[in-house]
Amino acid sequence: MRIHNFEEYQKVYQYSIEHPEDFWNEIAQHFHWRKKWDKVLEWNFTEPRVKWFINGKLNITENCLDIPAQKHPDKIAFYFEPNDPNDLSYSITYKELLEKVCQLSNALKEIGVQKGDRVAIYMPMIPEAVIAMLACARIGAIHSVVFGGFSAQSLADRINDAECKVLITADGGKRGNKIVHLKQTADEALQQTHSIEHVLVLKHIGIEINIQQPRDIWWDDIVSKQSTYCEPEIMDSEDMLFILYTSGSTGKPKGVVHTTGGYMVYTAYTFLNVFQYDPEDIYWCTADVGWITGHSYIVYGPLINGATSVIFEGIPTYPDAGRFWAIVDKYKVTHFYTAPTAIRSLEAFGTDIIKQYSLESLKVLGSVGEPINEEAWEWYHKNIGKGKCPIVDTWWQTETGGILISPLAHITPLKPSYATLPLPGIQPIIVDEKGNELKGNNVEGNLCIKFPWPSIIRTTYGNHERCRQTYFSTYPNLYFTGDGCKRDADGYYRITGRVDDVINVSGHRIGTAEVEDAINQHPDIVESAMVGYPHPIKGQGIYAYVVPVRPIDDVKKLHKEINGLITKIIGPIAKADVIQVVSGLPKTRSGKIMRRILRKIAEGETSNLGDTTTLLDPSIVEEIKQGKFKSQM
Ligand code: WTA
Repeated sequence: MRIHNFEEYQKVYQYSIEHPEDFWNEIAQHFHWRKKWDKVLEWNFTEPRVKWFINGKLNITENCLDIPAQKHPDKIAFYFEPNDPNDLSYSITYKELLEKVCQLSNALKEIGVQKGDRVAIYMPMIPEAVIAMLACARIGAIHSVVFGGFSAQSLADRINDAECKVLITADGGKRGNKIVHLKQTADEALQQTHSIEHVLVLKHIGIEINIQQPRDIWWDDIVSKQSTYCEPEIMDSEDMLFILYTSGSTGKPKGVVHTTGGYMVYTAYTFLNVFQYDPEDIYWCTADVGWITGHSYIVYGPLINGATSVIFEGIPTYPDAGRFWAIVDKYKVTHFYTAPTAIRSLEAFGTDIIKQYSLESLKVLGSVGEPINEEAWEWYHKNIGKGKCPIVDTWWQTETGGILISPLAHITPLKPSYATLPLPGIQPIIVDEKGNELKGNNVEGNLCIKFPWPSIIRTTYGNHERCRQTYFSTYPNLYFTGDGCKRDADGYYRITGRVDDVINVSGHRIGTAEVEDAINQHPDIVESAMVGYPHPIKGQGIYAYVVPVRPIDDVKKLHKEINGLITKIIGPIAKADVIQVVSGLPKTRSGKIMRRILRKIAEGETSNLGDTTTLLDPSIVEEIKQGKFKSQM
């Protein structure tokens, strides 16, 4: 499965696009299946309908747990590093992990969870979050992890959309010197849901919480008495493994669906090859399991490869800005995978703090979630990687399930801020607005993929039409990524950012419509328009233009209220950095907001606004340009 040098990559790549089915057929042989597939692939991008490894039977957790636990029961699967460096850190071996997952699986069965049921997971970044996901997969239940920073409303929406039967949560979590009141927020969410029969509550930080019997059950009470073995449910390749909600251009977040067989093959294959993981390596991905990076490259990909990983509950700046580097030294981390926003925020603290650590163990650095600017790339490469560690700039999406474009560590020649080349099996294509393919090199346009790969999105939960419309209708027979992209003279890919109404704040995807809906709930606001603007640390910041009911005299106060509202409805990650009060929005005669103009003004560009003659009221642009009544936080 493993590629060893660049020549081999080129050969494998060529073969993979000329004979995709033979290629994946061979890769899939490396895993443990209860029954082999009859056919590798059936697909069309019109319905869309994609099936991989048809009629294959398996349980992904046998590949994550039983197989590694047989080979090396005492190998460490996870090191846990708590938020507070003085709290207890510990490790879990593969054998222990298997047993813990089985116990929870049995507990879930006892409370009535069956194959196909949906289970929501709303947890801190601790090993039990991973155990919860795997326990669902063990018994064929579909997990829907909701990031612990999301609000009660967001949690309720996700629970309702998937009609989850059980919620797994904790009393609370710690992030720096803050406490996250998970159970309290969950209680609020549950007032708006009807499908949840039981809530399993882990006592993690020992805060006082409300327990409503018989609905709520303490994790320890039910889990500790269970048998440490649970027979895995045998799943079809195309049975759903999980739902993960993500933001798009319009409406509420949608539930991206991934299935079992293809997702397993692709995440495991890409983990091994992108990171070039060796059995003795210590891998650390700083993401949260609430995001796809956590699913694919903390849980499934590494475990299937029998890797040893670090799980960290806290934040990069607590107790100080050296925490990441202290953890690297403590566990002798060889592979460090993080987001550009974290790099930029640590860059701001200077290099003196880094000099207190050796960082000698590092072999490979990774970047994910947003474009990494050249300056951050160089800083990361020089100060963290000491010039000897390649940076794998991994481009992918919740919908792609795994990394699609990335260097292979120590194999692909690098170019700062380029995701470089497609992985085997991936056939990118750049198109213009009309969908014409831009062939050859030195081109820039919209990034699409023209052939399926095993972990491609299968549907959006409960609404297949939305999946078709969002990803497969813009350009016929292509999967549209929503990203802009350049291919340079060497055929290298550089992702330039979203071309739709999604913005990327600190590596988190945020839909303009969601934020605007939240802002519009403020009693003093008639309407609003949100755009992204370049932000030195977050990558993009949120700039919201708001139209008030009556003149506003205290914009700062309004800004605070709006952010309070956004926090309540979505979560703190979507708070506005800038609020500008305006008397109207630039709209076309058909009533469409011209975001292009708003984006330019937010970027500080006041000349060259392009054609404004189609506007209903061009004078509004003049007013907005003045930039009065603005508040920045
Ligand atoms: C962006 C995260 C540039 C991109 C795995 C994509 C990136 C969106 C990169 C998906 C990268 C992710 N370079 N941009 N290396 N990685 N993106 O679903 O805009 O949270 O469409 O998945 O993040 O975000 P998501």
